[in-house]
Amino acid sequence: KTVFVLNGPNLNMLGKREPGIYGGNTLKDVENECVAAGAALGLTVDFRQSNHEGVLIDWLHEASEKAIGVAINAGAYTHTSIALHDAIKAISVPVIEVHISNVHAREHFRHHSAIAPAAKGVICGFGIQSYVLALNALNSLSA
Ligand code: DQA
Repeated sequence: KTVFVLNGPNLNMLGKREPGIYGGNTLKDVENECVAAGAALGLTVDFRQSNHEGVLIDWLHEASEKAIGVAINAGAYTHTSIALHDAIKAISVPVIEVHISNVHAREHFRHHSAIAPAAKGVICGFGIQSYVLALNALNSLSA
């Protein structure tokens, strides 16, 4: 069973980027954590990052052919992208919205998610463990 873990804009800067909010782990650390947690669940994790909205959309479409589910941290596109909302709606595999930070405890413009209504659920605020929680949720959904 394969799951896609997709990361959007600026997440390649993890570790250097606002460490007081996002912590000191790099995206490679997150990937390693996800691969290990996935393996423990019997899941193969296909972990990707792009700064480009259209690439994320292509990967969601690809996931519908290759994956049993998707965990996506869409970064700031979360708050703006109707195209990502539509891509999630267009595929039948479950998609879980993930955030490292608790977006509801931050600026007002982060409180709205354009993709949450299309997602199966939302996990935020648990640091990089948010990703592991999403993998567990995808595994439960596929059991
Ligand atoms: C984020 C929260 C978003 O508001 C922000 O734009 C990000 C990261 C998070 O993981 O906490 O890029 O998705």
